[in-house]
Amino acid sequence: MQSIKAVAFDAYGTLFDVHSVTAKTERLFPGHGKRISEIWRQKQLEYTWLRSLMGRYIDFWRVTDDALKYALKTLRLQANDRTRIVLLQEYLVLKPFPEVFSVLQQLKPVTTLAILSNGTPQMLNSIVNDAGLGPFFSAVLSADAIKIYKPYMGVYQLLPANLGFRKEEILFVSANSWDAAGAKAFGLAVCWVNRSNMPFDELDVTPDLVVNNLEQLKNILLR
Ligand code: 2OP
Repeated sequence: MQSIKAVAFDAYGTLFDVHSVTAKTERLFPGHGKRISEIWRQKQLEYTWLRSLMGRYIDFWRVTDDALKYALKTLRLQANDRTRIVLLQEYLVLKPFPEVFSVLQQLKPVTTLAILSNGTPQMLNSIVNDAGLGPFFSAVLSADAIKIYKPYMGVYQLLPANLGFRKEEILFVSANSWDAAGAKAFGLAVCWVNRSNMPFDELDVTPDLVVNNLEQLKNILLR
């Protein structure tokens, strides 16, 4: 880790808990909150991959809305546009995982910090500012700049292009194993945050580092 000059984080699932929407989904649809959130996230990811392969980009806000529509339909839940927008807006105030603030605070003095995410700049700015994390980041980069989603290699290229460091000098941190695999295939140094004790995806690459949370990563980087 000596050669690392910058640490770039994935946003959803890595810094921010996508399942923090569950309080609202459960309140609006009692008994279904958890399932809505699970299907919503799974479809959101699938739609980014499918649309990238199909060459039919729409931004992450619209993808997230489409995924929510699908989740509600799957569970045969009726929701008018207003109810759906109320749920969708939860994506603008997702909660960071508990260790995030203090980890970023301790890393900030020793390295350049950035975000690289599929989220739109507006969505990312909203969650970053809502959580008071804005001052920690030198760059908040979005796949929207090139209108195709991770794990397309060109999205990871945004990091060296914008931060001015070589690929192997940038540590990309993601809790999404497919995303960590994409970043490694591109040539970044990679840390996979295995938050839920899962196997790493079988995609012929291995992350440089595996931790269970960002606190562990911070301890390694500050060692
Ligand atoms: C991201 O933040 C979707 O988690 C993925 O790019």
